[in-house]
Amino acid sequence: MGAYTMRCSLNLLVPVTVLAASVMGLAQSRPYNLGTPLSQEEIRGFDFMVGPEGKELPGGRGTAKEGAEIFAKRCALCHGRNGEGGSAQRLVLGSPGNPHRGPFKDTEKSATSYYPYPTIAWDYINRAMPANKPGSLTPDEVYAVVAFLFYRNGIIQESDVLDAKSLPKIEMPNRNGFVPAVPVWPPDPKKPSWF
Ligand code: HEC
Repeated sequence: MGAYTMRCSLNLLVPVTVLAASVMGLAQSRPYNLGTPLSQEEIRGFDFMVGPEGKELPGGRGTAKEGAEIFAKRCALCHGRNGEGGSAQRLVLGSPGNPHRGPFKDTEKSATSYYPYPTIAWDYINRAMPANKPGSLTPDEVYAVVAFLFYRNGIIQESDVLDAKSLPKIEMPNRNGFVPAVPVWPPDPKKPSWF
């Protein structure tokens, strides 16, 4: 039994060693040939985040009027004609000149006016929308649809130009509607717990 095991494993070992040697040889002589390298443009599509201060925002600009056209073509299909909701969530609450300041019901938290920072809208739309072709909008187009959504939510004027400088300065109506999730120990049974 011992001899059999020995012979069997030796027999197996030979082809495995030959195979490993040739794979190593291949690896040294040419690339693995598995897929193609990502272009800088493709990497930018998902490896790029914009923080609350907007320091990472790229050049470009857009207005609500320009955004209205893009929204109708690329977003209304799922979010409704003016962002009032369709097969995907509602993005607009309140109306031009009249922002919704909260409190927000759970079903209203997808509205752009819910976000504490204006850059969240830019960052999310840039990376994730339109859901059927994420990352396909140019920076100008993202500025424009954000301007459109902010205008429809009553946060900016229709003629306001959004760019890397003006966007982070916008004060969101629900900026102070969030409580920090600070754990309290021991928990006070009379107060709600945040975790
Ligand atoms: C094919 C359908 C589809 C299209 C087209 C589409 N969206 Fe969406 N959108 C969704 C879905 C589904 C979600 C929810 C995704 C999730 O929760 O993970 C979403 C979520 C969002 C949110 C986040 C809402 C929240 O909960 O905070 C924003 C903002 C948004 N979309 C904007 C846009 C914009 C702007 C466009 C056009 C450029 C667009 N979407 C096009 C389907 C779509």
